[in-house]
Amino acid sequence: MEQKFPHLCSPITLGRTTFRNRMFSAPMGGTDITNDGCIGPKSRAFYELRAKGGAAAVTVSECMVHPETDGSHAYHLDESILNSLACATYAADAISRHGAVASLELSHSGMFAGTYMTDKKKQKNLSQWGPSDTTRWDGVPVKALTKEMMAEIVEAYGHVAGLAKRAGFELLMIHGGHGWLINQFLSPLFNHRTDEYGGSLENRCRFAIEVLKSVREAVGPYFPVEFRMSGAEFVEGGYDLEEGIRIAQMVEPYVDLIHVSAGTYQKTFGITHPSMFTEHGRNVFLAEEIKKHVSKPVATIGGLNDPAQMEEIIASGKADVVYMGRALLADPFLPNKVMANQDEDIVRCLRCFTCMAERASTSTRRCTVNPLIGREDEGDVVYPAPVKKKVLVAGGGPGGIYAAYIAAKRGHQVILCEKEAQCGGILKSEQALPFKYEMYQLSGTYERFARAAGVEIRLHTEVTKEYVEKEAPDALIIGVGSEPLLPPIPGLDGDNVIIVNNYYLEKDKVQDDVVVFGGGLAGCECAVHLGMEGKNVHLVEMRGELAPDANVRHRPLLMAEINKYVTVHTNHKGLRVTGDGIICEDAEGKEVLVPGKTVICALGQRSRSKMVDELLGTAPFVRVIGDAQRVSTITNAVYLGYHAAMDIE
Ligand SMILES: Cc1cc2nc3c(=O)[nH]c(=O)nc-3n(C[C@H](O)[C@H](O)[C@H](O)COP(=O)(O)O)c2cc1C
Repeated sequence: MEQKFPHLCSPITLGRTTFRNRMFSAPMGGTDITNDGCIGPKSRAFYELRAKGGAAAVTVSECMVHPETDGSHAYHLDESILNSLACATYAADAISRHGAVASLELSHSGMFAGTYMTDKKKQKNLSQWGPSDTTRWDGVPVKALTKEMMAEIVEAYGHVAGLAKRAGFELLMIHGGHGWLINQFLSPLFNHRTDEYGGSLENRCRFAIEVLKSVREAVGPYFPVEFRMSGAEFVEGGYDLEEGIRIAQMVEPYVDLIHVSAGTYQKTFGITHPSMFTEHGRNVFLAEEIKKHVSKPVATIGGLNDPAQMEEIIASGKADVVYMGRALLADPFLPNKVMANQDEDIVRCLRCFTCMAERASTSTRRCTVNPLIGREDEGDVVYPAPVKKKVLVAGGGPGGIYAAYIAAKRGHQVILCEKEAQCGGILKSEQALPFKYEMYQLSGTYERFARAAGVEIRLHTEVTKEYVEKEAPDALIIGVGSEPLLPPIPGLDGDNVIIVNNYYLEKDKVQDDVVVFGGGLAGCECAVHLGMEGKNVHLVEMRGELAPDANVRHRPLLMAEINKYVTVHTNHKGLRVTGDGIICEDAEGKEVLVPGKTVICALGQRSRSKMVDELLGTAPFVRVIGDAQRVSTITNAVYLGYHAAMDIE
């Protein structure tokens, strides 16, 4: 078979270990870490699926090396803890039995210990140790590590590295980036020491090098060791790419792979984890530049999910390895699909940050486009149904199409009815927003899966009670979605008003001065897009804050874009719409005009509950999913769609 992406698919040897391709799975946190610091079964299953999906290396996330001074992830490798080594061994084995190399990330979060803890009170009570005495931005005091403590931590890195090797890990990633302890030593922003560990770059690199030497001594000369670093910190007072190059050169003698990421977790979250508002691969240039100055292989990462782009990165010599994080949450089988020339079937990551927000709030996993994430141990196989049934799905939004696809995959006869000319539901409106185009593409991808699985799609077909009676299905899945909320505000039916869901159809009508009515997620994102297009944009919101329902990771990044492009009027109640804008009542009760020749109406959605009520009880099995059940997220719609299909027996 002639491979479409030959460079991406070619093996690479680091130390004496050969990796089957150039696509490595990045560390992505632990979830069900047990109370005594072991890897739980859900985490193990999560890593295993990434290995089955074809990644060449799968990294088990941040193993704390020195819990006495750290508290980042609670996961630790310690032979004095019953089960610790056994759980690590099971995890390494679950990865390597599928042909991937099991890698373990060794980490110390230093002055940001406890960042990931969902119980922030516990975090505040931790002792925070860093290179220097200081007070964190959030007011938490940090104590400088003594040289004795540093020596202990260095030794601990070696000790844990030895245990990791014993457990069956065959690659170690030493985390020296993203603002954690080793990075804190490298960075002039955090490191103000006056001894031989501070000041000159050589001194700032000393701790990193001691750690690497300790690890090397523990694992021997041929075991691959990787150093994860930020190519540049992108914060005032931090180091730039020029220093990043010199850091790479200093650590190069001790490692087999230099992994170039970017930024600091605390300050430049949207750079370290490139958001939907940035281009894919926005950090590749860092690896490319560093690679020119070192002779060891270099890895790159950041918003990569397109095989053609990744192939170009490897083929042109910008990097030797590409790491992916979120792209492999969205589609763990991405590497297998690339290897099999089935790249069109890749389910693309939307960079919506549902994954990271869920971890921040509940320490579990969710992914908008992949309902199995975090629940792999509950079964990742779609088993055939014992009896073939006739399934009718009402509504071709993301939840409905996904439900139809899964039901057909299980062997049922599936008919999906969509009342409009195209499937996609609310996702259709995303096609006009370039930073959300992948969200629009999602429905196309699901639709292709559904058709290939044998779903019969009937467009221009509304499902009524009579229709169900005529079709007589065994199971009915109701995914009829939601409709725009249009309160009786005078002027809202005017010619200058466009419903946000229809913006993609009517965007040519939008004048240069626009006012967006409603500051929820849809209104905010449309306002940002219009601002990016060069329009003069005002945004009216009745509440005191914008997009309160946006997830905790996406929201700050969205607000940063709002600040760039939009004039915001919160605490403004829209009274009437005119040809010149929206007459509002402001916080003082005064009437003011928020100007705009075009008004984009984004006042929310409501479930199509009348349709739902009509269809309830019309088939032996009925399930309501997505917005039809409760106006919510695409994540929820897809998740409920999947399980509705799995429940039809
Ligand atoms: C859910 C999630 C958890 C993460 N946890 C870790 C971690 O434990 N250690 C780490 O070094 N990076 C972690 N990262 C960062 C990723 O390894 C990666 O650097 C980042 O997501 C950018 O890559 P991407 O754009 O391919 O997702 C995490 C990222 C995500 C999405």
